[in-house]
Parts: sequence; C-alpha cells; structure tokens
Amino acid sequence: MPAPLKIAFCSAEVAPLAKVGGLADVAGALPKALIGLGHDVRVFMPSYPFVERNPNVEMGLIADWFPVQIHSQWTEWLRLFRVAPDTGFPLYLVHSSGYFRGSVDSASLYADGAYPYIVFTRALLDAVPKVEPDWQPDILHCNDWHTGLGPAYLRSTHADVRPWARCASVYTIHNVAHQGEFSREALDHAGLPGWLFSPEYASHYERLNFLKAGSALCDQCNTVSPTYAAEVQTAEFGFGLEGLYRHLAAAGRFGGIVNGIDIGAFDPATDPALPANFCAAEPSGKAECKLQLQRECGLHADRAACLIGMVTRIADQKGFDLLAAAFDRIMAEPVQFALLGQGHPHYERLFAHELAARYPGRVHVRLAYDAAFGQRLYAGSDLFMMPSHFEPCGLGQLIAMRYGTLPIVRATGGLRDTVAEGELRPGSGPGFVFWPRDPAHLADAVSRACAAYADKARWARLVRQAMDADFSWRRSASDYVDLYERALAARRGG
Ligand code: GLC
Repeated sequence: MPAPLKIAFCSAEVAPLAKVGGLADVAGALPKALIGLGHDVRVFMPSYPFVERNPNVEMGLIADWFPVQIHSQWTEWLRLFRVAPDTGFPLYLVHSSGYFRGSVDSASLYADGAYPYIVFTRALLDAVPKVEPDWQPDILHCNDWHTGLGPAYLRSTHADVRPWARCASVYTIHNVAHQGEFSREALDHAGLPGWLFSPEYASHYERLNFLKAGSALCDQCNTVSPTYAAEVQTAEFGFGLEGLYRHLAAAGRFGGIVNGIDIGAFDPATDPALPANFCAAEPSGKAECKLQLQRECGLHADRAACLIGMVTRIADQKGFDLLAAAFDRIMAEPVQFALLGQGHPHYERLFAHELAARYPGRVHVRLAYDAAFGQRLYAGSDLFMMPSHFEPCGLGQLIAMRYGTLPIVRATGGLRDTVAEGELRPGSGPGFVFWPRDPAHLADAVSRACAAYADKARWARLVRQAMDADFSWRRSASDYVDLYERALAARRGG
C-alpha cells in the first residue's frame, strides 16, 4: 500500500449534521471510506446554529477566538470546535459570531453569498495547524463553489506558507449549475491577488466565479461521474465552463469518479425508520413496508398497484416538466405515485393540488423535508422516479436499488453510469432507462417497468439484482486516492 495520505477535506455541508443536498452525503461518507483505506482525513465545515443547538452534538473547543487576517483591513475572530461523539471521522467546525447563521435549507444556508465562504475557506487554512501543529496535509480537498477559493489561496497567498507549501489541491464539482458568481470586489476582500482575476483563472464574464477558480487553479479536478465529466465539456451541460473543462481534460487534469453511498447508514436490514426490515436473502419485509407506506400516504392498500416513489428537490433539473407532461399517460398504467420534496412553487402547486386531486387514493404529495419518511418511501416503493435533465451523479437511484426499488431514469450523468436496462455493466444495477428528453419516452419507460412488475418471477430477479449490486464507497474511494497521488505528483513535480 502507498504511504498514508493526510487529507484536509472541506465542505459547506456534511451529513448527518448539516444536509441540504447530495454534497452532504458525499462529505459524510467518502472520508470514512478513505480512513478505511488507511488514510488520515480531517473534515472541516462551518458551524451553523442548528448544529450548535443539536442536543446529540457535543462540541469540544480546540481554539478560542483566534484572529484570521483575510486582507490588510479585515480580520475575523473565530473559534474552532471538534465534534463528539465521533461521526466516523474527525470533524471540525469553524464558528463565527457573524457568519454561517442560516437554517438547514439551501435558500437560507447559502443566502449570504460570497462572504461566509470566503471566511470559511480562508479560516480553514489557519485552523488546520491549530488542530495539531505538526500535521502537514498532503491534500486540500475542496468541494463545490463554496470552497472554490481553496485552490486559489494555495496557488497564491499560501504557496510558500507552512503547512501548505507542499500541499496539493483537489477540487470536486457536484453540480456545474451552481457556480458562485460575485462582483470583482469579492476577490479583493478575499485577500487574493489581482492576477487571479483573469479569464484563465477566476473571472468569467467580468465576475468572480468561485467554481471556475477552484477548477482552474487546483492540481486535479473531478466531477461525480464519468458521463457527467464528458457532458460538462459540451455547451448543453457546461453552463459556460465547457471550454475550461475541455482544456483541463486535454491536460489530464479532469475526470469523473462516481459516488458511492454509505451502505451502513442506508441499509434496509437495519434501518430504524422502516416498519419492517429486509435484505436480499429475506425480502419479505418489503411488502410490509409498501402496505404501511400506502396507509401512511392515504393510497389504496392495493398490492397489485406498482408504487412509484420520488424523493427530490423540486427543481427544473429533476425533470418535473417531463413528468408533468407524461403524468396522465403514466397514471393510465396500474400505478400509484408518492412524492416527497420541496422547491419550485409552480410544480409544488401542480403536484400537491391539481394532480393529487385528479387521482384520489393514487397520488400522494408531501411538500416537506423529512428524512425518515424519505427512507420509508425508498423502502416501500416498487419504482423510483428520476427523469433528470442532468444529474452529476444522483444518490437517490443508488439508495433506491439498495432498498430493492428499481429506478426509472433518463440516461444522463451518473444515472447513465449506475443504472442499466437489460445487461448490467460493472458498477450498475437494474432499472428502466430512457434517452430523449421527451415525455413519451418517459411514459414508455414506465410502461416497460409495469410489464416487468406484472411478471412476478422476473420482478423478483430484478429486485434481487438491485439489492445485490455494490454501491459502497470502496472502489470510488480508491479512485480518489489515485487522484490524490496524481495531484501530488503534479504539485511536487513527480
Ligand atoms: C449534487 C448533484 C447530484 C450528486 C450530488 C453529490 O447534489 O446534483 O447529482 O449526486 O451533488 O455529488
């Protein structure tokens, strides 16, 4: 085995303490898998009020009110805590009295724009030596726009500063659609040099772009599936950064590593949220989960109906336009539909009011964020709906398969890499896949799924295959180790 690496991993969200989206799941699971491979990982996150108020979280003070000088006229005083009991990895929280005051939904958490994340990212560089003065990280691993300035600091202000001078940076993009674009002054406020404000690095159409900064200035950049890594190199998916990703790919600095899931946290055999537990060898509890779910949702307690679940942000990205247009055709099949999510007011109204009223006893919509109900939906459904326009990786389809629920997906990004209809590929599990962004193709996929469901023996085989597929982090974590090694070789001229 190569020498263990020291990795400072930073993310604006880390599950289970602060979760708005899939970024949190990755940040809560990949570090554990890396530690499992023998590496030394420390995770850093801003300290939010809802974390500080959580009665299950104890916070041990590591450093009290230390000054972080962000630029010549801006010094922030911050505190550093370590979370106990252990989350499976050492987790440090950066507390500020004025920033990171949001609540746990994306609109609120990220409402204050650039400044909280300038403070967090810059503070992290001073906080790491407070954890252990002799700990010299090999890798700074930043994620998404919030921490996009990490690689920028390492390449400029901190290029020769201990303990960062020999540290390489890795930057993971979980969604190119969210770039963190701000006015130029934010660069000066961040204490970064003016030369970074160039189209080659951090500026994009005269705005400071955090995602671009992270991507262009890190040693190795990746996104969360191979197909999405290819897609963002095209105008259709690149949100204006396709040229940069083509350039990085040609230079061997850009690729895709598919996410895993935390198979300990997502395990139908032990999940405490379920009315009955089950596993591939003993799947009978799933029928009980379905019956209870139908009761809980006010759906007809009909075993023969194929129950389609959906747990998602209600956003354009997720294909709600396709689903809405295909809905009546889908409901012409012997199906029921249950949706959990929040977001776009137009689709909230359409699904929760119009469509639920049109199909009484067959459609249930819960406009909420409710993790336990989400688990019951994954377990009690037969099919899981993900008709996304684009999907960097997608975790819902992986959790669904682990719970014996077959996904219906559009062939994009990680959905394409992890779900196969017909013959399985390595890393994929069974489901129903459609390609064109077109309601008729979505409805056809549902019809194929219903035909499969009607054939009991075939369905049982598919469910078994889904539950047997390996979506753990094991393989992807070692792909990250390879990425770290490549980043280090680039940084240290190896
Ligand atoms: C974002 C993406 C999703 C991905 C997740 C974790 O939420 O939209 O596809 O699975 O990040 O990487």
